Amino acid sequence: PARGRLTGRHVLVTAGPTHEPIDPVRYIANRSSGRQGFAIAEAVAELGATVTLVSGPVALPTPRGVHRIDVETAREMAEAVEAALPADAAIMVAAVADWGVDAALQKIKKGDGGLPPLALRENPDILATIARGPRRPKLVVGFAAETEKVVEHATAKRARKGADWIVANDVSGDVMGGDANTVHLVTPDGVDHWEKLPKREVARRLADRIADAL
Ligand code: C5P
Repeated sequence: PARGRLTGRHVLVTAGPTHEPIDPVRYIANRSSGRQGFAIAEAVAELGATVTLVSGPVALPTPRGVHRIDVETAREMAEAVEAALPADAAIMVAAVADWGVDAALQKIKKGDGGLPPLALRENPDILATIARGPRRPKLVVGFAAETEKVVEHATAKRARKGADWIVANDVSGDVMGGDANTVHLVTPDGVDHWEKLPKREVARRLADRIADAL
């Protein structure tokens, strides 16, 4: 790409949902489409960054010039992110499943009346691990999908996870899978409220702020 404001920087982006297998044919997932994360990967690449995009299962083309690593589960995503370090910035957009399942090795059969138990276990918090780890990128950005008290929850999340910024979005409407996003950027300096924008425009503005910060 042409020389840009992020030339020479390595930016790591996570995107999409994770799939947590229950047995060989079933999984737990969420409604993340990956579109906001892919748009961010594209926007930072357009500014010249070297981009590693760790993606859960999505139906999206790889943005031009982006190195994409496909994963399925949260554990795989955590490993891929660790392996991609060091980075100058980590933008964690993925909707990582909070819980994984101790998956059955064979397909669970409809039984004689009883319901199968699902043994849930906590998944690694990739963002918190990276933000508090020895190879912490200079800039760590998290996302917070909230349906209520959006800024309040995002501000608490910023502190709890050790992120520099949290991009809070209100997912009470049709954001997940949709084309537009209303976000609030929570930084140590305060909160910027952005108007409802196409996800590509959210991505471009964020890429600009990332370039400022690096
Ligand atoms: O705690 P919550 O899931 O709301 O946090 C969302 C932020 O944390 C997002 O940036 C998401 O990518 C990241 N996250 C993560 N690993 C998890 C859960 C969330 O990186 N296991």
